[in-house]
This record gives sequence, structure tokens and C-alpha cells, in this order.
Amino acid sequence: MEQKTKEIVAAIRRDYDVMFVIGIGGSYAGSKAAIELLDTDFPVVYIGHGFEANTMDQLWEQYRTRRVKLCIISKSGQTFEVVAALNYMETKFRTKYGADFAQHMIAITGAKGKLRDYANEHKIQTLLHPDVGGRYSVLTVVGLFPMAVAGIDTDEILKGADYNHNQEKALITEYAKKRYNAYQIGKRVEVMAVSMAAAQQFADWYQQLFGESEGKDHKGIWTSVLVYSRDLHSMGQFIQEGSPIICETIIKVKDPCNQLAVMNQVCIDAVAKAHRDAGVPVTKLDLARTPYDLGRLFNLFLEACVLYCKYLGVNAFNQPGVEAYKKEMRNLLNEEKY
Ligand code: PA5
Repeated sequence: MEQKTKEIVAAIRRDYDVMFVIGIGGSYAGSKAAIELLDTDFPVVYIGHGFEANTMDQLWEQYRTRRVKLCIISKSGQTFEVVAALNYMETKFRTKYGADFAQHMIAITGAKGKLRDYANEHKIQTLLHPDVGGRYSVLTVVGLFPMAVAGIDTDEILKGADYNHNQEKALITEYAKKRYNAYQIGKRVEVMAVSMAAAQQFADWYQQLFGESEGKDHKGIWTSVLVYSRDLHSMGQFIQEGSPIICETIIKVKDPCNQLAVMNQVCIDAVAKAHRDAGVPVTKLDLARTPYDLGRLFNLFLEACVLYCKYLGVNAFNQPGVEAYKKEMRNLLNEEKY
């Protein structure tokens, strides 16, 4: 991150108690994954990835007496969920901060669009959303800024990503090929399993990355997120003996060596063997809970996803299908049924 951005981060950490982040899809999934997995020392709260009035009310009630900074992240600046959350927060901020409400906001957005216009109108500080789709933006300011505010060493995230880019090309290619081979032999569901609940959001990030990148032209593998060992007692049966449509990636998160952690590691190794023996193609990857290693894995999957989509013959970078529900929403809103 640029020095100027680091100074903004330091000021937020100094002047506020909490930062709310509005964003959906790729605008929030990656940084939230890092914040849930790694050690942090400043609260970052995610909102605006749905239309949940009750959740918003509860959150505001919880934080309204605190010094709240609001970060709005949207490349297009016109995503329904984001605009709705911003409208909600603007009302709250006007009550809380008065005429200066906009000084307590920061926007990460593209060079043009409604959010850019809104920021210009209210003189809101902005950072430029780079010209990459949200799901490929975790290693840019989009992902790094909230992580840095939370207290994560983003230089280490980037070092890990860089290492993987330069040293582990073979692993990236192998992963992409393996996933494409699974597709070719009829696997249509990929279980993305993580060995602890704190890594579930990382699996959600992966699901969004692959799902939105590959699911087109009636092709692709559906990613299903599981947490082990919890979900072995629900979906484990299906994976072992159900329809043979499943391939699996297991992320073995390394924990300090105590008795429970040892059990967890043993469990993951046992599950991988049992599933392989049942004919499921399994890839097992390690992840240490460090910014460096998380950066390494972010980059591995980002690059592997692009390569895999190339093998599959789909455009990894668009998402035309997402427009359909938005069009229907516009119709319903125009018909003033709501
Ligand atoms: O990965 C993507 O491109 C999408 O998931 C977007 O991140 C998501 O739709 C949000 O878009 P925007 O940043 O324009 O609000």
C-alpha cells in the first residue's frame, strides 16, 4: 500500500473506535476472511451484503455511541445492496455527526459512477478501486485497506502472495489442472473444507471467486463450503457414499500444538484418506495463521482460478448472469409494488 494510504489507516486507528465496511461480493469477502483468520487489534464490522434491516438496527444500536468510521467499497458505485446500506448509514451519520457527517466516511470506488459522484458532492475522502473485478481485488487496496485498519501486516500478505507468484508456479498449474480433470471426469461439486470455523470466511471467499468466475455457458463446478470436523457429521456421509459427483479441497489450518490441535490435524489427515479411498479426488493444502501464508494462498487460488477458467473455456472476469436478478428488482421497484 502507498505511504499516503498507510497514513489514512493510522489516522483511522487513532481517531475512531470501529470501522464499518459496506461492500458485497468481492468488495468484502477477502478482507473479511483475513480479519476472521488472523490476529487483529481494531474492530472492523461488515455491513451491506444483504437487505437485513434488523441486523443493521442491532449493529447501530451496539456502536452508535462509539466513534464510527464508515468505509464504502464498490467498484461500480451502484450496487443495490451497497446503495441501500449507504442510505441507511447516511441517516444515522447525519444524526450522530451533524453537517460534518461525510468527513467520517471514506469511499473506495472506480473513477466514475454514482458513489464517485456522491463522494465528490460531499467531499468524501476516496481511494481508487483498481480496474479489476471485485473477486480479483483482495491483494489491492480493496482488500488490504480494511485488513490494515484491523491491524494486519499487509506488507507480509503481499510478500506471501509474491512468493507464491514467483516460486510456486508449478503448484498453481497443478491445482488448476487437477480441478479441470475433476470436471472432465464428471465431478460437479467441489467441497471446499476448512479445518476450523475461523477459516470459513476464507472458504466463502474462494466460493465467490470460483463460482462467479466459472459458472457460465452451462459449465463449471459448484463450490460447497464445509467446516471439519463439524460437517463430517452431516455431509460426510454424502461425500463418502453419495452420488460420485464430488471433488474436494481441504485446507488444513495449522494451530499451536496442543492436544485439541493434534486431534484436529489427525482428523483432517484421516478424512483425506477416507475420502480418497472412496474415489473422491482430494487436494490437501496447509495454511498457517500468518499474513504471509494467507497471502500465499490468496495468490495461489487467484492465479489457479484464472488458469482453470482458461482450460474450461469460460471468461473468468465477467458475471453477466448476476444482472438478471438486478433487472427484475428494477422492474418491481419501477412498478411500485413495494
Ligand atoms: O467479483 C465481482 O466482480 C463482484 O462480486 C463484485 O465485487 C460485486 O458484485 C460488487 O460490485 P461493486 O464493487 O461494483 O459494488
